[in-house]
Amino acid sequence: MLDQGAPPQNPGQTAVSASPGIGARLMRRKPVERLVAEGGQGEGGSLRRSLGLWQLTMISIGATLGTGIFVVLGEAVPKAGPAVTLAFVIAGLTALFSALSYAELAGTIPVSGSSYSYAYATMGELIAWICGWCLVLEYGVSVAAVAVGWGEYLNELLDGTIGVTIPAALSAPPGDGGVFNLPALIVVLLAMAFLLGGARESARANTVMVIVKIGALVLFCAIGVQGFRSGNYENFMPLGMAGVSAAGATLFFSYIGFDAASTAGEEAKNAQRDLPRAIMLSLVIVTALYVLVAAVAVGAKPWKNFTDSEAALAQIMREVTGQTFWGTLLAFCAVIAIASVVLTVLYGQTRVLFAMSRDGLVPKVFAKVNPKTGTPRANTLIVSLFCGVLAAAIPLGQLADATSIGTLFAFALVNVAVVVLRRTRPDMPRTFRVPLSPVLPAVGFGFCLWMMGSLPAITWVVFGVWMAAGLVFYFGYGYRRSRLAPSEK
Ligand code: ALA
Repeated sequence: MLDQGAPPQNPGQTAVSASPGIGARLMRRKPVERLVAEGGQGEGGSLRRSLGLWQLTMISIGATLGTGIFVVLGEAVPKAGPAVTLAFVIAGLTALFSALSYAELAGTIPVSGSSYSYAYATMGELIAWICGWCLVLEYGVSVAAVAVGWGEYLNELLDGTIGVTIPAALSAPPGDGGVFNLPALIVVLLAMAFLLGGARESARANTVMVIVKIGALVLFCAIGVQGFRSGNYENFMPLGMAGVSAAGATLFFSYIGFDAASTAGEEAKNAQRDLPRAIMLSLVIVTALYVLVAAVAVGAKPWKNFTDSEAALAQIMREVTGQTFWGTLLAFCAVIAIASVVLTVLYGQTRVLFAMSRDGLVPKVFAKVNPKTGTPRANTLIVSLFCGVLAAAIPLGQLADATSIGTLFAFALVNVAVVVLRRTRPDMPRTFRVPLSPVLPAVGFGFCLWMMGSLPAITWVVFGVWMAAGLVFYFGYGYRRSRLAPSEK
């Protein structure tokens, strides 16, 4: 029973230990060759390989650029003042070091499970499970957080066009002055409809939306710079370095998603070549845009005035031009922009669960592929309904921070995984190599811990509860049903 369907033994297949001890079981590793050989295969069908470098890059940008810059920026400015620009750079560096590690692993193990699969190949099943569980925070919970931000810009748009806004009872969750966030639920259901149509169709729609959002941010910079006052930068760091790192931790949310291309490994035409490129390219584009937009925003509006609304960029456009039209146009673009985050992040969540299900760690239904569309249909339906309800019922702020801490933890593990795989499988062909390993992965790991440490205590409590729930699920389900388990019986 050892590794059915796996390639012949080699040094990397230290994985499935003959030891029946619980420690050995928790450490069982899935050989890289087996991970890759199973790529694309689900229950009853296969995923379709239809995505090239352009679409993969668009998926990563699509998943990254959205609520963070359009909404969370407004929440971070009061923490850091004009130094919010520096906070973006710090959060971007955290993302950059981890992105290097992602790029190496995505090129070496080009499957859909992203960091979950990398951890399975290097650090064993328990850590892989923990990583996968963090990815549910990164993707599933962030879809909900992002969908909430979408509703805020939708209201801004409705206000600017027809002078009507959705009443708070129907546009905010309990705890935020409402009863149910209907717009958040609607955008998740719209994204679900695209995803059910197929990966290629969703990627096309996403590409159009990404072009709109990049265009909107460039337009913001072009107009916002006209209201730029250097005096707004006089007291650059009014709340000190602590304020900057707190803002950086909050803004890390805006970088979440650059790794989304790594969840498309089984639908990429040339995954080994294109995944590392897509990850790095998207991160560079997004970081440049963020720093520019933040610099213009705090130059055009004194930082102390960032208090009234979450649709901060649209307001700045209105204030600088004195015309509601520009603010409304930006709100329209933000509605499109954030919808593309929902679409791509939802996509990522379904693919991570697909990989986990194929390994037996979550129910089989998540790996069922519809032969007509080549997509995991039931998976998409379940994940969308879960995220939709979450989005409708929980306030954004708490969700965004919970998402960040889970993502940072997964990134920290990816930095470890890259070093482990270099040692255990130095022979494997790598299409991208992190320079100066293990120094840069260690720096990436350190940045992740620093950002995690800058998040508020309540976020740690939420994270602790989340991880405890994950461990209960693993020991109650995945531990026994893992496809690596039978070999040890
Ligand atoms: N990075 C994504 C956003 O900002 C989650 O919307």
